Amino acid sequence: MKILFLNGPNLNLLGTREPDKYGNETLFDIENFIKKEAQNIEVETVFFQSNIEGELVNKIQEAKGNFDGIVINPAAYTHTSVAIRDAILAVQIPTVEIHLSNIHTREEFRKISLTAPACIGQITGFGKNSYKLGLIAVVDFISK
Ligand code: DQA
Repeated sequence: MKILFLNGPNLNLLGTREPDKYGNETLFDIENFIKKEAQNIEVETVFFQSNIEGELVNKIQEAKGNFDGIVINPAAYTHTSVAIRDAILAVQIPTVEIHLSNIHTREEFRKISLTAPACIGQITGFGKNSYKLGLIAVVDFISK
């Protein structure tokens, strides 16, 4: 089983970016944490980060036939991107939306996710464990 982890804008700055909200670990640290978790359940994972909306759309389109599931932290595009939502709907690959912080306890504009309705579910507020829970959720969904 192959799972694609997609990361949106500014997540390349994890580790130094607002650590009170997003923690001290880098995206590379999180990737290594997930790789170990995935190995234990014999799942292959690929990580990708981009600050560019269209690159994330391209990756979702290219995932068709190449990945069994997607875990996506669309970051700020969560709240704005019809294009990412439509791409997820178009490819029909089971997708879980994740967030490090709890978007429902923050500013009003963050409580709205345009992308979550295209996903099988949303996990928000568990720091790097949101990535782990996203992996477990998508693998469980695919395995049923
Ligand atoms: C985030 C939450 C978003 O609102 C924000 O724009 C991010 C990170 C999170 O993981 O908590 O960049 O997706």
